[in-house]
Amino acid sequence: LAAAGAAVGAGSAVWVLGGREGPPESLHFRLADGAAAVLRLLDAERAHNLSIWAAARGLAPVHKAPDPPVLACAPWGRPLPNPLGLAAGYDKGGECPGAMLRMGFGLVELGSVTPQPQPGNSKPRIFRIFCQGGSDLAVVNRCGFNSEGLEVVGNRLRSQGLHGGAGRPRGVLEGGRLVGVNLGKNKTSDDALEDYRAGVRALAPFAGYLVVNVSSPNTPGLRALQGRRRLAQLLQGVKDELARTMPDPAERPPLLVKVAPDLSDRERRDIANVALSVGVDGMVVSNTTITRPGDLALVCANGQEEGGLSGTPLMEPSTECLRDMYRLTGGKLTLVGVGGIASGEDAYRKIRAGASLVQLYTALAFKGPGLVPRIKRELAELLERDGFASVEEAVGADHRKR
Ligand code: FNR
Repeated sequence: LAAAGAAVGAGSAVWVLGGREGPPESLHFRLADGAAAVLRLLDAERAHNLSIWAAARGLAPVHKAPDPPVLACAPWGRPLPNPLGLAAGYDKGGECPGAMLRMGFGLVELGSVTPQPQPGNSKPRIFRIFCQGGSDLAVVNRCGFNSEGLEVVGNRLRSQGLHGGAGRPRGVLEGGRLVGVNLGKNKTSDDALEDYRAGVRALAPFAGYLVVNVSSPNTPGLRALQGRRRLAQLLQGVKDELARTMPDPAERPPLLVKVAPDLSDRERRDIANVALSVGVDGMVVSNTTITRPGDLALVCANGQEEGGLSGTPLMEPSTECLRDMYRLTGGKLTLVGVGGIASGEDAYRKIRAGASLVQLYTALAFKGPGLVPRIKRELAELLERDGFASVEEAVGADHRKR
């Protein structure tokens, strides 16, 4: 207990020091990485809550240096300084989007948010995976959509100015960086469409983009919504509600669907066809996996915990799913590649496989905030090495190789 107390104390102190502005990998980022290392001595969810607490109080490091111009992109016509995002599940309640953007992300995805507040599954429900050899950075979670609900999160986003106004668009912070909102459904609700419609009505006015999450493995029945007929009905219903809520198309946030990596070829084809025929604006590929690649479940501590696996073991399967989705949609949708990114090389592989934007979560928890400037620098070097004038030129490059 004393060690845990000391760890928390040291962690907070280092985050405080880390709160100042600094260039990438400055002392402040290195101190914040040290704080992240200290937080890893704690239970995973407690460490997570502490890091949110610190970030919401301005104690996270700030990446002020301009991003390399090669990273500039414009998904859905919205200019961003870089394509690297924070994945859903870190800031479920919208407590610190500005701080995470100031850390250097080009976008953050908040949520998942459920209509009514709900506690999620019993704790512990987030487990770090420790493998022999120690090279994997992985987590299993079965949070089950713990959420404060639409009303609390909506009020919080309004108070941060995400409804726009005074010449500023909706759904952006920190000079136009995107704040996406990921919608979920309540565990006890038997009307999924109405849950997502409620999410649209409450949060679309604050969203830089909206995600319909039908791929969390921890809500019974949720992933069955990825079936062809149910998905078509669901996405069409959500799209119609979005048009009713935001009648001006210029104000309307892009609509995306987030899918699982654990899909058969046929399911992938069906989802791609539905996404194209309904006319959504993009797809997030992917959520966590219920599989345990290789012998992870046997050789890694916590590998047999029930829930969704994230981190480096997810890199291959989620990138293959992304590659399929790019091919099956003919490159017509904006794809967000997520799953196992821990380096600039990983981000580059997702982009070449078809991602216009990339996101990460698990590696950040293991490596700390210094990872953000590091990935951006490595990605810029790889793009320049291969002669791309812009990251957008590299999107889907693997599919054009002869
Ligand atoms: C998640 N993820 C997630 N995704 C989502 O759409 N809604 C959510 O509420 C959550 N919650 C959540 C909690 C925890 C603890 C983790 C680790 C993950 C999934 C996340 O957004 C992402 O898709 C996967 O984690 C894969 O990316 P990484 O972590 O391998 O970079």
